[in-house]
Amino acid sequence: MGLMTENGSTLAGQEASSLKFLIYGRTGWIGGLLGRLCSERGIPFAYGAGRLENRAQLEADIAAAAPTHVFNAAGVTGRPNVDWCETHRVETIRANVVGTLTLADVCRERGLILVNYATGCIFEYDGGHPLDSGIGFKEEDTPNFVGSFYSKTKAMVEELLKNYENVCTLRVRMPISSDLTNPRNFITKITRYEKVVNIPNSMTILDELLPISIEMAKRNLTGIWNFTNPGVVSHNEILEMYRDYIDPNFTWKNFTLEEQAKVIVAPRSNNELDTAKLKKEFAELQPIKESLIRHVFEPNQKTSTT
Ligand SMILES: NC(=O)c1ccc[n+]([C@@H]2O[C@H](COP(=O)([O-])OP(=O)(O)OC[C@H]3O[C@@H](n4cnc5c(N)ncnc54)[C@H](OP(=O)(O)O)[C@@H]3O)[C@@H](O)[C@H]2O)c1
Repeated sequence: MGLMTENGSTLAGQEASSLKFLIYGRTGWIGGLLGRLCSERGIPFAYGAGRLENRAQLEADIAAAAPTHVFNAAGVTGRPNVDWCETHRVETIRANVVGTLTLADVCRERGLILVNYATGCIFEYDGGHPLDSGIGFKEEDTPNFVGSFYSKTKAMVEELLKNYENVCTLRVRMPISSDLTNPRNFITKITRYEKVVNIPNSMTILDELLPISIEMAKRNLTGIWNFTNPGVVSHNEILEMYRDYIDPNFTWKNFTLEEQAKVIVAPRSNNELDTAKLKKEFAELQPIKESLIRHVFEPNQKTSTT
């Protein structure tokens, strides 16, 4: 909801000058992009210095920054990938469970909204939501994917955070940005793999959706949100676009889920999320394939169109 003015009309959101964001994840991919966006838009912000699991440090950050909203882009996702979490369980719990819950709790005590970049990798296609059916998981659905320790703990935290009315949970999936040199970018990852599976998935185009998360804070939105572009795109569809826009000589090899299972430790989540709730709030939200072309492939195009 926007703010009510004296004559009863509703402002779309707060003016940049009346906002102050406190952001966790300064050295991270999403946290870095978010800070850059705030700078570009003239929104005052500070990065949190505290570790998420250290309550006293979080309280000191909030006292120093006096924010209107807090954003959490901090957490562990594992390096080189989520398999790291299988063998670093306590470290994963410390940041993603104890840390995230501590931050939510401190924010609640201070009456602050916490916009939390969470994950949609807590679902997998099932009988009620089959592959290629167009039936996506909704915000109120209970997570059904606990195949990896990372996803299992993220699902637990999401469930607990439902009790915090000050939290806006954004279910991010397979994030993509226009920076095709970034090794965290899903496109960069799959172009560098020796072999890739080919499964349609919901994905998050950060260039389009990070500005929307800022707008969500301005509107003081809370609760759970599937935070992906509408529809699904498969690995091969993305790689075909990569070949057509970036490198005409690019080739790749596919393998099956069974073959993939032999080279990874924990199973990965594949799913479609229902984006009707986000689309209702942001009518301009673009379908995944259109957003990919507009925000990623056209700005990076290296091939000739003639
Ligand atoms: N990237 C993905 O594939 C993906 C997919 C879905 C959802 N997400 C969500 O988005 C969030 C951010 O992802 P990202 O890709 O930007 O991650 P990232 O690049 O790995 O960055 C993580 C950030 O979290 C900080 N951090 C880690 N543990 C911390 C702790 N205990 N206290 C304070 N800061 C801590 C790191 O700081 P230090 O360097 O100081 O440790 C770093 O700044 C993740 O937590 C995840 O829930 C990501």
